[in-house]
Amino acid sequence: MSRNKSLPPGESLIHPITSAIEPIDLAKLFPAEQPLEFEIGSGDGSFTLQYALAHPGTNIVALERLLGRITKLDRKGHRAGLKNLRLLRAEAAYVLEYLLPPGTLDAIHVYFPDPWPKKRHHKNRLISEPFPPLAERLLKAEGVVYLRTDNVEYFEQMLEVFDRVVGFERTETPEPLKALVTDFEQQFNANGIPTNYAAYQKIGE
Ligand SMILES: C[S@@+](CC[C@H](N)C(=O)[O-])C[C@H]1O[C@@H](n2cnc3c(N)ncnc32)[C@H](O)[C@@H]1O
Repeated sequence: MSRNKSLPPGESLIHPITSAIEPIDLAKLFPAEQPLEFEIGSGDGSFTLQYALAHPGTNIVALERLLGRITKLDRKGHRAGLKNLRLLRAEAAYVLEYLLPPGTLDAIHVYFPDPWPKKRHHKNRLISEPFPPLAERLLKAEGVVYLRTDNVEYFEQMLEVFDRVVGFERTETPEPLKALVTDFEQQFNANGIPTNYAAYQKIGE
């Protein structure tokens, strides 16, 4: 089997997006109704896989735009027999803005999003001004956004955009969550670059 071979539809955990307008009812992608979390830019999915295995009572949807990376996670998730993991291959900005129903997520995980270090590229950063209101709309009351990055300047931008909105308050990242290290994190940490963590909880209604 070639490394990037996709699984057949009956086995694949990737939910095919068939409409550019109809919101996806994420809860319906799973056999069990239970808390629902969303990861943006899951990469190779080593965090995702560990998280889904450690939390069988939580449904997790991972979004990633690169085919090779999502196919790899699909094969690992399928091999592990995970019933609580589903995948979307798409562009995050579009999905967040148009394809997710409001008030349905218990948590959003964004780990090591592309830092776009050049100033003229900062507009491409996922965690910028438009992100907190989008997250606030998608989360349930008391839902949490978990963020990690190696890039200190991007980290400051993350804090700035979240601290500016009234709908969130800063909270702690739980230690057991920190213990689940992502692919990129492993490489950064091995090179002596520490992880910056932030978590913001939606203020209850
Ligand atoms: C730096 S990697 C981090 C991957 C993983 N979270 C980790 O920590 O190992 C960022 C990932 O986000 C994905 N990504 C970046 N922008 C995206 C977008 N707009 N929509 C979907 N995925 C995106 C990239 O393809 C890449 O796999």
